Formats: sequence, C-alpha cells, structure tokens
Amino acid sequence: EKGEYRHFMQKEIHEQVRSLTDTLAGRVDFDEGRIHLDTLNLTAEKARKIEKIIVTACGTAAHAGMVGKVLIERIAKIPVEVDIASEFRYRDPLVNPNTVVLAISQSGETADTLAAMEEARKKGAMLWSIVNAIGSQAMRLADGCISMQVGPEIGVASTKAFTAPLVDLYMLAVLLGDLRGELSATERKRLVADLSLIPDLAGKCLDREEEVKKVAYALKDTHNALYLGRGINMPIAYEGALKLKEISYIHAEAYPAGEMKHGPIALVDKNMPVIAITPRDPWYDKMISQVEQVKARGGIVVVVATDGDEKARELADYVLWIPETPWLLSPVITVIPLQILAYHIATLRGLDVDQPRNLAKSVTVE
Ligand code: M6R
Repeated sequence: EKGEYRHFMQKEIHEQVRSLTDTLAGRVDFDEGRIHLDTLNLTAEKARKIEKIIVTACGTAAHAGMVGKVLIERIAKIPVEVDIASEFRYRDPLVNPNTVVLAISQSGETADTLAAMEEARKKGAMLWSIVNAIGSQAMRLADGCISMQVGPEIGVASTKAFTAPLVDLYMLAVLLGDLRGELSATERKRLVADLSLIPDLAGKCLDREEEVKKVAYALKDTHNALYLGRGINMPIAYEGALKLKEISYIHAEAYPAGEMKHGPIALVDKNMPVIAITPRDPWYDKMISQVEQVKARGGIVVVVATDGDEKARELADYVLWIPETPWLLSPVITVIPLQILAYHIATLRGLDVDQPRNLAKSVTVE
C-alpha cells in the first residue's frame, strides 16, 4: 500500500534508503573489504577467462548497464558493451564462450531481454542476470544471478529498481577486479568502504524534496527539456530524460554533453531548459564549460551539483544539490533529484504518474 504517499512512485523513491541498505546486506564484508555475490557462481578461474561483457537490457535497465560499463572497465579492466536487447537479438552478435552476456531486468519477464538471453545461450556465452522479480524467467535462464533485493516495484516509472542495479554492478566490478588481480588491497578496501556511505547519502537527497519541488514548479509548463551528462553520469542524463518523458509527457532529450556543438546546441534558446549533471567527478571541468556555453546562448540552466560548489551556484538558474559522493558511486545519488523532479512536474500537471498513458510495467510482448 501507498501509506503516507500519494503515489507508488513517490513511495518507491523514498524507499531507496531501505532498498540500498538491503542491496548491500549479506554481500559486503566491510571488515575484510570484500564482496560476496554467491548466486553468481563465479570462481577466480571463470573470472580470468572473461574476454568481454555484453550488457543487454531495455529502458531504465539499459541505462544502469551504461553506468556498469564505466564501472567494470575502470575497476575490473574488462571491455564492456551495452546493447539494447531488441537490437542484440537481431544483429547476429559476436559472442563466444569467453563472453559474458549480462541481462538486467526489474521484472525478469521483458520479452526482448529474454530473447536476447536465449540468443546468447545459443551462441554459447556465459549468461548472467541482475533481476528483481524472484523466480522470473531472467533469473531462471541465467547461469548466475544477482537479485536486486528491493521488493516489488509498482510504479511504472522505475526508480528503486534503477539505483539497486547500479550498486550491484559496482559490487560486481569490485569482485571481478579482485578475482582477476586488478586491485591492490588498499584500492579494494577503499572501494568497498565507500559502499557504506550510499544509503545515508540517498537519504540526504530525499530530505531535499521540497527544494526540488520548487524547481519542478518553475519547469512544469515547459514543452521541451535537454539533459546533459558526461562519463559515468552521461547515462543519468538519459535516465533523467526518460523519467520526465514517460510520466509528464514533456519532450525530453539526453545527450553526452560533448555532442552539443555537433548539433543539439542549435536547440538552445531562452525557452529551453537544460538540465546538466555536474557532480565532482573526473568530467566536472568539461561539464562546467559546456554549461557556460548553454548559458551564453540564453538557456535556462538547472544543474545537479555537489554541496558547496560555488561555481555551479553562480552559473545556474536552479541547483539540485547533492551531498559529496565518491565519484564511482555518484550516479546512484545524482539520479535521485531527477526522479523527484520528474515526479513533481508530472503531478503538478495533474497526471497519474503510476499509470502513464500507453505504458505497461512489464513489456512481455515484442
Ligand atoms: O522489467 P525490465 O527492467 O526489463 O523493464 C525494462 C523497461 O521496460 C523499463 O525499465 C522501462 O523503461 C521503465 N518504465 C522505465 O521507467
């Protein structure tokens, strides 16, 4: 039931402190600085054989996969591709027994994702999944599985089932990095210790709902929005835009910020809100210079920025503040104000966010 909340989506956004705590439970040994993902059935020998990982998924789950690419390549030094499941299945993909195909799915019943898994199986790949619905097909088909541990997600717009797989992918990256000998003990311990911060940092974002609501009020009548991000937070631009379009029906696009000058900057005028994700990660300076260019063309700028960032405050018309977060985990935190923003824009427009038009919670037909 919705309890004190108006919609399941709002309740599920607020459940993220709990769901992120549960995501870590039983998997993280903070004393030893080690990750345990037993249901993956992974050995050091298997981990060393992996030549490539292909993440396959749809929608929000695919955005999680895009973050996973940065995490696994950085931490475990394994090349990763991300393939939309409806594309993977029809492309005759290059897969062999040293390839892992990793499916991500909240429902575990998305037709395209299951078909992609079957295609991978036929070609002899190792098959893993990250799934929420216990006992679902995507869980049963895989050789190894990470369960999301977030409980049922009712709202059509996925929220807590986005942040959990981000943490799962981070844990997977650390485990693979460890098993393949890519991490020093010091690095491994620091990466593991950082996980303990995440539930509290998510809670700090939730405490700021009223401030985000003010920004929602300012943007509620817009017809368009452009989301920009780079590096590990580039997929968060995609996810922020998807949240907005699916529940508020506002046309929203996302771009890797470096692409702006190759076309999309032509869209920017005083009526175009640009939502830029600018946490303190290795792409920060590049993002700020992109925001300056948007500002110079009269766009309305909203930034997701770290507490105390004076530069961001000066530049932007509105700031969605986030607490300081280790950058490899920053997508878990930067997405939360964007979930809240989309939620409030949609409700201010009088829309039923739990049942958006034309959409089903799980897409079991092609
Ligand atoms: O159940 P799945 O994770 O496989 O679903 C995939 C997409 O249909 C899903 O993430 C969709 O994009 C959501 N409505 C996004 O909020």
